[in-house]
Amino acid sequence: MKILITGAAGFIGSHLARALIRRGHTIVGIDNFNFYYDRACKEWNVNLIDLIAGKDPRYNVGGKEEELRAVFRLLEGYDVVARVGGGSFSFYEGDITNAGFIETVFSLHQYDAVIHLAAMAGVPYSAKMPGLYVAVNVDGTALLLEASRRHEVARFIFGSSSSVYGNREREYVDEEDVLTPVSVYGASKVAGEALCRAYALTFRINVAVIRIFGPIYGPLQRPHGMVQQRLINYAFNNKEFQVYGRHGLDTAKDATYIDDEVDGFLKVLDYSGPFDVFNIGTAHPHPLREWVEIVQEISGKKIIVRVVDKDETDVIANANISKAVRVLGYAPRFNPQEGIRRQIEVFKAMPKWYQEMKEV
Ligand SMILES: NC(=O)c1ccc[n+]([C@@H]2O[C@H](COP(=O)([O-])OP(=O)(O)OC[C@H]3O[C@@H](n4cnc5c(N)ncnc54)[C@H](O)[C@@H]3O)[C@@H](O)[C@H]2O)c1
Repeated sequence: MKILITGAAGFIGSHLARALIRRGHTIVGIDNFNFYYDRACKEWNVNLIDLIAGKDPRYNVGGKEEELRAVFRLLEGYDVVARVGGGSFSFYEGDITNAGFIETVFSLHQYDAVIHLAAMAGVPYSAKMPGLYVAVNVDGTALLLEASRRHEVARFIFGSSSSVYGNREREYVDEEDVLTPVSVYGASKVAGEALCRAYALTFRINVAVIRIFGPIYGPLQRPHGMVQQRLINYAFNNKEFQVYGRHGLDTAKDATYIDDEVDGFLKVLDYSGPFDVFNIGTAHPHPLREWVEIVQEISGKKIIVRVVDKDETDVIANANISKAVRVLGYAPRFNPQEGIRRQIEVFKAMPKWYQEMKEV
């Protein structure tokens, strides 16, 4: 299959691209390396995809090629997707809100599927730049759906978020539940989902929406605003970890290990239905205090923790994953201990600029 992945230089997009190349698919990735976090992290991710596709890394890593290859070997050691050979990778830098760029990307290749992950991600930032979130997450999604329709792409998969449910505390939400987002980010994902549904019903494109239950964690986790990455960075850099969670250290979210999330995407790709929505999470939320303990135990470092304030804008929704289990055979396998062990192992193999990143 030839598959377009938007946001391919990002955390989930790059892991998914590597898994699909292992499965022998032809992957075309696009990304604009937006400012949300350091471009070097995203170039690193693209270089890793190049390596799995048997190419030289395209971005200069400043004399750190041995480190890049060491990280690659670690990730290859973890990978569970059988390698069948024949996969390939092309990449274009550009913005999904640029209609000319999108037209070029769709004219150069005929895709069997589009997996749309490019987005302004993260809830708190959406209160600072709401217009940008709407432009990228809504208008960008509309442009991609329209290009997929005009170029007769058979399958479109949209990376949505548990944020569409709003704050549901200890409830386990299912796909039929009412959507009550409380952030601009959550609302922008609801709008993206609504467009997906409309295109599926009106133009008979096969569309699936995946509601991703994050924080998604694991090696090379998105290094901004994600609790596991922050804990690891602070442990190794001796910084105080300030807790703003809705319920302090008892705040428990349905965090999903990256390989489980990728597995959900692979299963949705293999499944075919006219329009479907799937929660892909774990259904096993762990409280913040447990994440602190696990990172301390595996890193061997003490983390200074201070509960600062209760953040009322923080939202929690846990996944009822029974539909994905029943329809797709989805079964998350990873526990936080193994996921964090791998995340720390890769963290330690990364260059200094990554380990000492200031903004996490
Ligand atoms: N990581 C999580 O916990 C989580 C949870 C729920 C939903 N999601 C969703 O999953 C997707 C991927 O998330 P991630 O954690 O990999 O984030 P990420 O920021 O690492 O990846 C997103 C990528 O999209 C790119 N991008 C942003 N705006 C773009 C634009 N206008 N044009 C082209 N590329 C653009 C970014 O440069 C980035 O590389 C996003 O849609 C996000 O909303 C993630």
